Amino acid sequence: MITIKSKEEIEIMRQGGRILASVLQKVSENVKIGTSAADLDKLARELIFSSGARPSFLNYKPGGAGEGYPAALCVSVNDEIVHGLPLKDKILREGDIVKLDLGVEYKKLHTDATVMVGVGKISTVAEKIMRVTKECLELGIKKIKPGASLNEYALAVEDHARENEFEIVRDLVGHGVGYTVHEPPQVFNYADRRMKEIILQEGMTLALEPMVNEGSFEIVLVEDGWTYKTRDGKLNGHWEHTVAVTKSGCEVLTK
Ligand code: MF3
Ligand code: CO
Repeated sequence: MITIKSKEEIEIMRQGGRILASVLQKVSENVKIGTSAADLDKLARELIFSSGARPSFLNYKPGGAGEGYPAALCVSVNDEIVHGLPLKDKILREGDIVKLDLGVEYKKLHTDATVMVGVGKISTVAEKIMRVTKECLELGIKKIKPGASLNEYALAVEDHARENEFEIVRDLVGHGVGYTVHEPPQVFNYADRRMKEIILQEGMTLALEPMVNEGSFEIVLVEDGWTYKTRDGKLNGHWEHTVAVTKSGCEVLTK
């Protein structure tokens, strides 16, 4: 069931989202040649705890079973799409594109966001996939309003990726967010009959997260059990915001 959040609940998510955005901003500023992903995770944890919030992903079990996620921050580099582990020996190098994905729990409510940062001088295609993926998210967000279906969001995202000769990841999706990191509905980033059936209402809160591949849409799960990568080893782009559906459109909560 898709839950509707009250004005008070959305206010809490707005505050949590603001903490999240400011942590991601500070962590982004620390993305430099030679920095390790573990350093970024450590910084994110410290900043979240000192804001009176808690990292949503730490010990979280996305499927409900197995081991919880061992960190606060997902750091996915180049062909890594999501859930990249912030390991000590994951050292950032010139030309890398880095996805920083973070969840914040504040007063029992979660928000979820991802930003991308380039390390030093990056290639033209790396620059393009970062820009186009961000534009996909922005164009999608413009479609979020009461009475619209999620397919309108999905179409806007998919069209923009295709116009730029990129492919949309099909096996990973956005989601509702609130009292847990992942709530219904699933939010596909490509047009699909199932998305037509989901009609937006004021008070819905969604984590919108287009994942765009330079090459094929196919993905693989790495042996670490967490990291998803592109099958062909080409680049991936991923940006994410948590939004609340308002009376006339939507509000980005993670800014
Ligand atoms: N932002 C991620 C998503 O929406 C959540 C990561 S949970 C983790 O899928 F446990 F894998 F970190
Ligand atoms: Co998410």
